[in-house]
Amino acid sequence: MEEPRARITRDGIRIHEAADFDGMRRAGRVAADILDLVAPLVVPGARTGAIDDFIRAEIERRGVVSATIGYKGYQHASCISVNQVVCHGIPGSKIPKRGSDVLQDGDILNVDVTVIVDGWYGDTSRMYAAGPIKPWRERLIQVTHDALMQGIEAVRPGATFGDIGHAIQSFVEARGMSVVRDFCGHGLGRVFHAPPNVLHYGRPGTGPVLEEGMFFTIEPMVNLGRPETRVLADDWTAVTRDGRDSAQFEHSVGVTATGVEIFTLSPAGRFHPTWG
Ligand code: MF3
Ligand code: CO
Ligand code: CO
Repeated sequence: MEEPRARITRDGIRIHEAADFDGMRRAGRVAADILDLVAPLVVPGARTGAIDDFIRAEIERRGVVSATIGYKGYQHASCISVNQVVCHGIPGSKIPKRGSDVLQDGDILNVDVTVIVDGWYGDTSRMYAAGPIKPWRERLIQVTHDALMQGIEAVRPGATFGDIGHAIQSFVEARGMSVVRDFCGHGLGRVFHAPPNVLHYGRPGTGPVLEEGMFFTIEPMVNLGRPETRVLADDWTAVTRDGRDSAQFEHSVGVTATGVEIFTLSPAGRFHPTWG
């Protein structure tokens, strides 16, 4: 790989060096590997609190660090967002319209894990299903997954962040679903949340120009109904205002000389719930 010089663009985006890709590969792989191990735990009757306990233990066992424990007062090793929860669902907290954190047959959920490995951040999330799910939930998951991949396909030097957002938004809206505006992806690297804000909607040719050495997440949240969200009294849990279902997938990626490298690919090929 050609060696990009470490610098910060006028938009505040860090251009990383070739050697930094190695750090991101290691961090991304740990996060993705942990999400692979979560798959068999997602069954009706399981508690989201127990899934988070497993993730925390796995992070400790590997001698790496959770990026979310202690982040702005957050106390958990993952976010677990069930059904109409858009993001930042708190493991062990009550599932909306339910008295407990126990998963039921037909639930869909996103599990989001961020780890720090030798100072580098790996941030990824994916959807899981507890037992067989309704066809419209299957479709929501498929469209959200494919929307992330459409966004990733737009990543190459010379493209813009607006191109990424447009690829995601046009794909989702053509399928009658909506893109959440209230949360976005983010630059990362040796920090958790850095410039730019990676919007999952937008117009082609707008926004900062992508350059080799940029690292960021793409993490579209897609709703079956309206895009609006609200945050519950716990100050974290974001839910759809209309109470309909939401899904999300997230990868950490880097811009290469010719395109994109995904740092958080599933080592077991389990990123999509129907593949595992
Ligand atoms: N991992 C989330 C993201 O994709 C951030 C979670 S912050 C937490 O950016 F505090 F809610 F865990
Ligand atoms: Co993220
Ligand atoms: Co995340």
